[in-house]
Amino acid sequence: MKDVFVCQEGDLADGSTLVVSNTGAEIAVFRHDGAYYAYRNYCPHQGGPACEGVRMPKVVENIDEAGFYRGQSFDESEFHIICPWHGYAFRVTDGVNANDPKLRLKKFDVTVQDGQIYVRI
Ligand code: FES
Repeated sequence: MKDVFVCQEGDLADGSTLVVSNTGAEIAVFRHDGAYYAYRNYCPHQGGPACEGVRMPKVVENIDEAGFYRGQSFDESEFHIICPWHGYAFRVTDGVNANDPKLRLKKFDVTVQDGQIYVRI
């Protein structure tokens, strides 16, 4: 294991993503609600650049008591990364697919040392 430098802490604003390739594979580092997360930029579905998709709150299907569809809403307590190829959604906090927990992005540990962000590979 080694720590690979990503960027200065101030270079990654909350809500932003940085994809680096100096690790031997593309790895995306996310800053979300003040925490850092890193995943391989490779979708377990068909290999798309999952981490380059939009980040958005979980979409909730609203079904009433009678079973009728009542539209969609957002659950801001959980954010997803949406793969741009086919729309698979992965939780920002652990990389697990929102619908099939067997599918997950490869996760890496992120450390901050003296204001510098590193990914452990
Ligand atoms: S390759 Fe990512 S959803 Fe299909």
